[in-house]
Amino acid sequence: MQRLSETLPRPLILVPTMGALHAGHLALVEMAKRISGQAGATVVSIFVNPTQFGPAEDFAKYPRTLKADCELLRTAKCDIAFAPAADDMYFSDRSTAVLESELSRVMCGASRPGHFSGVCTVVTKLFHITRPDIAIFGEKDFQQLAILRRMARDLNFPVRIVSHPIVREEDGLALSSRNRFLSEEERKGAAVIHATLLEAEQKIRNGWNLTNHVEDWMRESISKEKLAKIDYVVAVDPVTLQRSDRIKTPVLLAAAVFFGSTRLIDNRLLE
Ligand code: PAJ
Repeated sequence: MQRLSETLPRPLILVPTMGALHAGHLALVEMAKRISGQAGATVVSIFVNPTQFGPAEDFAKYPRTLKADCELLRTAKCDIAFAPAADDMYFSDRSTAVLESELSRVMCGASRPGHFSGVCTVVTKLFHITRPDIAIFGEKDFQQLAILRRMARDLNFPVRIVSHPIVREEDGLALSSRNRFLSEEERKGAAVIHATLLEAEQKIRNGWNLTNHVEDWMRESISKEKLAKIDYVVAVDPVTLQRSDRIKTPVLLAAAVFFGSTRLIDNRLLE
């Protein structure tokens, strides 16, 4: 039997998503189109992956807008939308998963146990099903990108991983499928995350070099926004995701902050 992926033009570019597509996702699709050129093809997967949500997380509530997503992809001239059902992706008696055990320990991995194993497992499956030459991921999920790069390296996936910069609203808030859950007041307050990352960057450029000092300042700055509840703020090495006492560039400033029950993440890389 010939596989679908064997009949597709090359290079084949994959953009994995969970749908509820916004301009951030579409920027990745545009990048895919640019790379694939006339000869190649672009596949966007849309799958709300149950294995990357914890039991108390928002899997049931996660926005599902498949019809609108397909319209957006049609307009963007994406070649293929791949939107499998959960039953088609996972066997009920599955007993295998992919585990990255180092970079997944910190930041979002510390707050969301099992999350990155779910991400690695589903991305592995998507790679095997679609067999892309290149896969594109957004820098908004910086830790996810670092983990998937590590996975591709460690397990010899024949896929080149390419990243796209964060796409933002006018006030700096990173676009996210979850932003639609914010009340008007929360939405206004959420701009504090990016503003804080930018100011922290300035402080480092002005000579602040103690990690604690910078992290404490970021925590204080975000906490001034009454609706914000911090999950974490960190200043870490962008490759190892580890802290050291003194800040050395390159450094990744990253934060996860709840507004109500909506958890938002953002980051800024200082080269
Ligand atoms: P999802 O949150 O739908 O994001 C899909 C891709 O879009 C990810 O690579 C993410 O980093 C990127 N993205 C989202 N918002 C962005 C923004 N504002 N700017 C730039 N890129 C942005 O990430 C996932 O889905 C899932 O974990 C997935 C990788 C699909 C595995 O299930």
